[in-house]
Amino acid sequence: MEQSCGLVQGFHGSIKLADRMRILRQKPVTIWLTGLSGAGKSTIAFELERQLVAQGHACYVLDGDNVRHGLGSDLGFDPDDRHENIRRVAHVAQLMNDAGLIVITALISPMRADRAMARDIIGAGNFIETYLSASVATCARRDPKGLYAKALAGEIPVFTGISAPYEAPVDPELVIDTATLTPGESVAGIFRYLREHCLALAA
Ligand code: ADX
Repeated sequence: MEQSCGLVQGFHGSIKLADRMRILRQKPVTIWLTGLSGAGKSTIAFELERQLVAQGHACYVLDGDNVRHGLGSDLGFDPDDRHENIRRVAHVAQLMNDAGLIVITALISPMRADRAMARDIIGAGNFIETYLSASVATCARRDPKGLYAKALAGEIPVFTGISAPYEAPVDPELVIDTATLTPGESVAGIFRYLREHCLALAA
């Protein structure tokens, strides 16, 4: 792959992506987890990261709840702010991929158009859209943060799945049914995909 740098414009150093791939022995991709709050994104992202690192991969999780403390601390949850949140995270993921890292994002990213934007920013060949599928009823039953209860009580005015839309992916690279699979089984499913498509590059 003779890609030097993901930057379209600007000053380019002499280090090629191929050099970084050789050193890190991996193809840097972004595993873009999407799904409702409570679908398992953070749990699966961090367990996948743990297993990848245990196998010698350089990998980093960009988690929605975490990045909203800094990178997105000025953003809320209206459609424009979610769009901007996703745009920023996609650019950070692209830079991390350019540095050779495998990135796992864990954002609801509810709108198809915003995920398509992320795919464009990151590059279609590096983007693994992974739909963590679980119904609103399942996620509301789990309600790990108590947010569905608040949303149903009208205390959160625009909550995804209750009073704001979630558009399921039409043609994602991967669908993981987290309503029926355990987190361990879900991670194993993603790992299988990575082994077949990306990690084979590791020497
Ligand atoms: S996204 O829509 O912009 O992709 P993101 O993944 O960053 O969302 O943040 C979602 C997290 O913010 C949820 O897991 C939840 O903890 C919290 N949150 C707070 N308010 C809302 C809301 N109104 N809708 C959805 N998530 C919310």
